Amino acid sequence: MNASASATEVDEEMSVSEEKGGKRPGRKGKKSKYTAHTADKYELYQHAVQSPETDVEFVQRVYRDLRGEEAMHFREDFCGTAILSATWVKTDDGRTAEGYDLDPEPIEWGEKHNLAPLGDAGERVQLFLEDARADGRRAPDVRIAQNFSYWIFKERAVLLDYFKKAHESLAEGGIFVIDLWGGSETQDKMREKRKVDEGFTYIWDQGEYFPGSGDFTCKIHFKFKDGTKMKEAFVYEWRVWHLTELRDMFLEAGFSQVDSYFEEDDDDRDAEYHLDNEGEHAAAWIAYLVGQK
Ligand SMILES: C[S@@+](CC[C@H](N)C(=O)[O-])C[C@H]1O[C@@H](n2cnc3c(N)ncnc32)[C@H](O)[C@@H]1O
Repeated sequence: MNASASATEVDEEMSVSEEKGGKRPGRKGKKSKYTAHTADKYELYQHAVQSPETDVEFVQRVYRDLRGEEAMHFREDFCGTAILSATWVKTDDGRTAEGYDLDPEPIEWGEKHNLAPLGDAGERVQLFLEDARADGRRAPDVRIAQNFSYWIFKERAVLLDYFKKAHESLAEGGIFVIDLWGGSETQDKMREKRKVDEGFTYIWDQGEYFPGSGDFTCKIHFKFKDGTKMKEAFVYEWRVWHLTELRDMFLEAGFSQVDSYFEEDDDDRDAEYHLDNEGEHAAAWIAYLVGQK
């Protein structure tokens, strides 16, 4: 999360498509308390984009199905506000989590808004202002990098090094999980807006995709019922990585088995994911890649 938000106009020069769904871009009318003058971008992001219960249930289910027991220790790389870690420890008194992020702002926000309200359970989450590639404190049963955060690694050698570190770090039988997003729309310059239930509009702004480098800049803006707008609340400078090359890199990094799980319904942010190593072409799809140690 590397952009400051400002209450300015969102440029409307590009076509804007309405309401698609899926995690990539977020969703959820009634009178709204939100205005660009006072809104908190992390709160808006959590309402619009994240579905932590679904994601935590998914990884716990995959681990249980594979290992016949419960995953207990969780590591969240690029954790931001650590909503996944907070959700993880709520599911069982014995569960613990650690999160890594380089930006103190979301970490502090997460400690205050996601962990402190949990009371004792929040004490079972440790957050570190460290690189996602840093050594962990304890071997995780499940380690995750979510919302395409690893796309900031634009060189193969750098990404492979991260995957190798993730592999090495896992507890016996541990799994490493990344999400990804693909389909022909990922290469289109476009904007998509979605009304969020809490009473504001989320705008996903995809910039130009450069096929030679894979470079791709995406932004999130928010628009409010009082007419104010928060432009560039979040800006992502990414390289687009494809599922097949990621699978190859997982194998190269040492994972013994690598499986993809595709989101079943792009119109439901709380959709289920199912095991499918072939996939189905779509304009936009979301999947998880799971590597087993
Ligand atoms: C796309 S946000 C994702 C936040 C959260 N995981 C989510 O799912 O919404 C990417 C996060 O990665 C962090 N970040 C960028 N480079 C990093 C690195 N090398 N190590 C750890 N965190 C990093 C940023 O500070 C930002 O909070």
